[in-house]
Amino acid sequence: MPAQRIAFIGGGNMAHSLIGGLMADGYPADCVHVAEPDAEKRRDLANRFGIIVQGDNQEAIRGAKAVVFAVKPQTIKSALEPLGPLLRKQQSLVISIAAGVRESDISRWLGGQVPVVRSMPNTPALVRAGATALYANEHVSQRQRDLAESLLRAVGITQWLDDESLLDIVTALSGSGPAYFFLLMEILEKVAIELGLPQQAARLLTLETALGAARMALESDEDPACLRQRVTSAGGTTQAATRVLENGDLHELFRRALQTATDRARELGRLLGEQ
Ligand SMILES: NC(=O)c1ccc[n+]([C@@H]2O[C@H](COP(=O)([O-])OP(=O)(O)OC[C@H]3O[C@@H](n4cnc5c(N)ncnc54)[C@H](OP(=O)(O)O)[C@@H]3O)[C@@H](O)[C@H]2O)c1
Repeated sequence: MPAQRIAFIGGGNMAHSLIGGLMADGYPADCVHVAEPDAEKRRDLANRFGIIVQGDNQEAIRGAKAVVFAVKPQTIKSALEPLGPLLRKQQSLVISIAAGVRESDISRWLGGQVPVVRSMPNTPALVRAGATALYANEHVSQRQRDLAESLLRAVGITQWLDDESLLDIVTALSGSGPAYFFLLMEILEKVAIELGLPQQAARLLTLETALGAARMALESDEDPACLRQRVTSAGGTTQAATRVLENGDLHELFRRALQTATDRARELGRLLGEQ
């Protein structure tokens, strides 16, 4: 990625991991500016990464090619509005990582036509294993798309979407998704302990099995259904277990869970826009 000036509004958890990813990729520290109200977080960011950190949002975005809004969804409106005139003048790319906040609301709060990329990252971004979906409005150029993509790729994989409404499904799938897998790990570990396995062994075997299955699915040419069939021999233990899960209609349970989460994401997006 060519080194261009990038600014972050908000220096919390996500900004921390995105900047950490950029630094690990060799991005020049003097091209990264952060505006953060908390003095202790400012000191921490400056000491850790050697980047330019300040308390003034206007100063941080001056001359920036891209501005990442890494604040909470409830605060993004008040962070965007005062910066609208300068962002419009500079035509800086605005990248929002705020969950649920729609592009039309971001553009409205900025007061006009600005290139906006809306993204939906997930928590594994904190360990550079994130999965982020991206959506660009019609003012975003190819170069700006590349810039947004390389920025988010510093913390995991990226996936572009042409239709913004699909981000509600993404929120239900990969946004909330880590929690589904954590829940599954929690249940597997607990039941193994109940069956008699020591806690430490149950935890380690559960987590490594989850990691191993994900890695196998990613590295294999076969889809997860094939991989599952391959480890399910007739009359064996896996078949006995998966039959119990199928009889409990796990598929229908997940269909309802993802539908409910998608509906909730839609509703939250609408409420955030009414601020
Ligand atoms: N954490 C995740 O894994 C994750 C995943 C997907 C999406 N996201 C999205 O990422 C965004 C950031 O989440 P986070 O976990 O990084 O939150 P966070 O740790 O609370 O960071 C937000 C930071 O922005 C600062 N801030 C608040 N208002 C500001 C303003 N007007 N100007 C400049 N800075 C301001 C906050 O300071 P104070 O604390 O002093 O208010 C805080 O340090 C959220 O919108 C969230 O939806 C996060």
